[in-house]
Amino acid sequence: MTQFYKVKWLRLIILSLSCLLLVLTVSLSQATEQKQLKVAVEPVFAPFEFKSATGELQGFDVDLIRAIGEAAGFTVEFQTIAFDGIIPALQAGTVDAAVGAMTITPERARAVSFSRPYFKAGLAIAVQTKNQNIRSLDDLQGKKIAVQIGTTGAETAKKIPNADVRTFNEAVLALQELRNGNVDAVINDAPTTLYALRTGNLSGIRITGDFLTEEYYGIPTPLNSQNLPLINQGLTTILNDGTYQKIYQKWFNTQPPPLPQSIPGIEQTTQPANSLQFLSVIFNALPVLLAGALVTLALASISAFLGLLGGSLLGIARLSSLSWLRWIARAYVDFFRGTPLLVQIFMIYFGIPALIQSLGIQFTFDRFIAAVVALSCNGAAYIAEIVRAGIQSIELGQSEAARSLGLNPVQTMRYLRSCTSFNKGLPKKEKSERKGVIKI
Ligand code: ARG
Repeated sequence: MTQFYKVKWLRLIILSLSCLLLVLTVSLSQATEQKQLKVAVEPVFAPFEFKSATGELQGFDVDLIRAIGEAAGFTVEFQTIAFDGIIPALQAGTVDAAVGAMTITPERARAVSFSRPYFKAGLAIAVQTKNQNIRSLDDLQGKKIAVQIGTTGAETAKKIPNADVRTFNEAVLALQELRNGNVDAVINDAPTTLYALRTGNLSGIRITGDFLTEEYYGIPTPLNSQNLPLINQGLTTILNDGTYQKIYQKWFNTQPPPLPQSIPGIEQTTQPANSLQFLSVIFNALPVLLAGALVTLALASISAFLGLLGGSLLGIARLSSLSWLRWIARAYVDFFRGTPLLVQIFMIYFGIPALIQSLGIQFTFDRFIAAVVALSCNGAAYIAEIVRAGIQSIELGQSEAARSLGLNPVQTMRYLRSCTSFNKGLPKKEKSERKGVIKI
């Protein structure tokens, strides 16, 4: 009996000790677990944020936010978001902050809360090296200008009278457009353009005139974010302890200029915008959206027509008795169905002019035509498969019957009908009997 109680007590003690241990480790790990902030980034804006050849995220902003995290006691989880999607993501609260070489502007300060300024930059005009006519904003009147969508460069370009402004999702694409000779100039943040020139990623391009603006970058967070004091505190720490200077030196090879505590004239809103203000944004954008819808409609109908023509020919080529023709058609179809449409559009619009120009021939592509070519080529590949499958769905016996009736291949294609449509409405038994009917 005593033996029995001893074992029971022992068990109870061991059990409670393990429970205590578990509770202790959980609370300890919670205490030591660092806060983690989700930070949006658009990694195609070197040297601020970009990916290395091995796909690693790097850049001035990336080093900076990591250093701020270290100083303020949080870790960073990066999330890739397109630049013009960063502010909506912050407003929706899907991310806690963003690093994106984002200029602190009065309009943005009404939608998000910015940290203290962390970088001094400015806009600059980039032109082709051989272009001597453009020196200032005034020279850009009536010219074609490429910009990144949603940036201060795009805002500046919009104000130039009669300018034909073309927007791109990424700044590098706008610069590539200039390199290909499709536009006269690019308005972009000077440090990025200069970095691209310095690293040799852009040839035949130079910066012209003085910087157009003086801008300061800040780290945006959702309005009244509780993380903002933490970020500001970390930023101040690294500005004072030399870490900031080290990061600056690493990416720009010079000493950083002094930074202000805040930017005069920019009021940081603390109230979220009301829903009526939000409606006016949609209302103002309506004409642009409608114009865009018209372009989409035109693109879709022209390329559907051309794709149908090309696809029918390709479909027939897929069944040709000439093996080389079959193989070419097959390679075409596999290529266009096996690669993303966006990649094909990029290859056609940016790749082909760059390739032809590298042969020393002047060549530019109109945007609309390039889109029609890409969409038609892509559509043709899909339609080819529909045509091929349609033809192959006709039994071999029927083609043989057509041939024995003396029909040539064109007549065979014309008069041989798929039995399913011909048999519609017939009783089941008769349907099978009439299978293989040729209607002439
Ligand atoms: N500084 C400019 C702006 O705020 C351009 C920033 C572009 N940044 C980027 N990650 N693409 O509008």
